[in-house]
Amino acid sequence: MTDRILVTSALPYVNGIKHIGTLAGSILPADVYARFQRLLRRDVLFVCGTDEHGTPAELAALEAGLPVAEYCARQHAAQAEIYRRLGISFDHFGRSSSPANHALTRHLFLCLEAEGFIEERVLQQVWSHADRRFLPDRYIVGTCPHCGDRAARGDQCDSCGRLLDPVELVAPRSALSGSAALETRETRHLFLLQSKLADRLRLWLEGRHDWDPLVLSLARGLLDQGLRDRCITRDLAWGVPVPKSGWEGKVFYVWFDAPIAYVALTQEWAEAAPGRDWHEWWRRGPGTRLVQFLGKDNVAFHALMFPATILGSGADIRLVDRIKGFSWLTWGGGKFSTSRQRGIFLDAALDELPADWWRWWLTANAPEASDTRFTPAGFADGCNADLADGLGNLVSRVLSFAATRFDGRVPDMGQAGEAEARLAIEADAIIGACAGHFTAIRPRRACESLRALWSLCDRYFAAQEPWRTIATDRDRAACATRTAINLLRLSAVAASPVLPHTSRRIAEALGGARPAIWPARAEEWLREPGGPAVCPPGVAFPRLPPDWAASVASRYHL
Ligand code: 2FM
Ligand code: ZN
Repeated sequence: MTDRILVTSALPYVNGIKHIGTLAGSILPADVYARFQRLLRRDVLFVCGTDEHGTPAELAALEAGLPVAEYCARQHAAQAEIYRRLGISFDHFGRSSSPANHALTRHLFLCLEAEGFIEERVLQQVWSHADRRFLPDRYIVGTCPHCGDRAARGDQCDSCGRLLDPVELVAPRSALSGSAALETRETRHLFLLQSKLADRLRLWLEGRHDWDPLVLSLARGLLDQGLRDRCITRDLAWGVPVPKSGWEGKVFYVWFDAPIAYVALTQEWAEAAPGRDWHEWWRRGPGTRLVQFLGKDNVAFHALMFPATILGSGADIRLVDRIKGFSWLTWGGGKFSTSRQRGIFLDAALDELPADWWRWWLTANAPEASDTRFTPAGFADGCNADLADGLGNLVSRVLSFAATRFDGRVPDMGQAGEAEARLAIEADAIIGACAGHFTAIRPRRACESLRALWSLCDRYFAAQEPWRTIATDRDRAACATRTAINLLRLSAVAASPVLPHTSRRIAEALGGARPAIWPARAEEWLREPGGPAVCPPGVAFPRLPPDWAASVASRYHL
């Protein structure tokens, strides 16, 4: 068995609080997986951080009127706080702009250069006289030649969605100064010679049998088209400076240093406490499994570019063992948009409802093989059925019964019989399936198993009718109540990767948390003796009222 599981989630861009789609398509499934693996008592390390370099961060800082470094520090802190409130169990949430990442990026670049995988090429780029700098495509704005929108960017028109080349813009000007004094000039850049690594990448990818078809077909498709060399430098001030004389004023492309940050984040984590060794997590060979969670637009970088960086550098850094890619969560079928305020962003989401509501729905409806359409009505229906009428109702019925009829304790009388033996067999089957789904990273199916577990408990309690038998056979009623409570305890642990806050509340209502361990054998859990006091936890999941969905749709511009 692999001892160590290293889990990463795609690093969210630093500019602004992310929307619920970013949570659903990378951070949340990574957290669910990390939490499940910890329940199996694996040694888990879950690292992530803000992706801080590149044009978007520079532009956003400019808009906010702050120096980029200060802007990034503030935004990092804001995002870290949101993920904490969402119960994301990062072992380390750092920053790609850290000194550790600067140092490692420089080091790997120098290795690549020494190994002959870097080449200088001359390109044509737009120079702005007023700004005294080259402008990246998206720093050039003008009128879209297709739809006439006056705020089209050099790389894309947000109004009609067309991809553009800066030379196509009518009346182009600098997004920084507004100046139209632009000219095309030659500039030197460094390229990573991915084409020279294509055969090694193909060989490695051929061995990745357990990856999802979505990820494999994207990665192999890119290789089949012929892997192009990639420009890894930019004419920007903010980023990791290129460590070569004569290259002052140029930094690495954000997609060169961002994946390297996964390793640098681990180094930082290791340095924060004695006895930690980052090599243990990243060296090649058995003993560790690296599982990376990301959206499908990130596949090329994680399945090809970062592996090319590692292979070409010759460094002893492991290649990813499993990439789990996700499709998109859409806002009612369309795109989330910060500028148009379309969609729910994570701070607003937490103002609407506690974290576990979002965690549940976004896991139960994870955009796995295809896009998931988020609608407030679908969300409300799902949460009402699963959380309010399902789990919440079950917990409150069973615990209220114990509280009122057994003096607020888990009753100890009564022997388990045939019904309890059957219950253990059925629970084992569901738990086995659930563990299989969590292991294979099938979040939707894992949630189906959890629903099945709640429904099993519900059916057992209803069939035993302890409220009726208590009059004639108090022992039987006690055994049924205790067994149902024990099954609830088990269900709460099994659901804890998805519903960590609710699980803790249920454990507390049942007399305190026990060591968290995956309930592999139901019989042992169901046999737990009675004793501890129970206290009904109040209404954990009130039904969302009928007008909730309409109100959310209108407030968030669906
Ligand atoms: O697509 C994104 O949101 C990127 N910021 C992901 C970066 S992942 C990594 F490699 F750092
Ligand atoms: Zn347009």
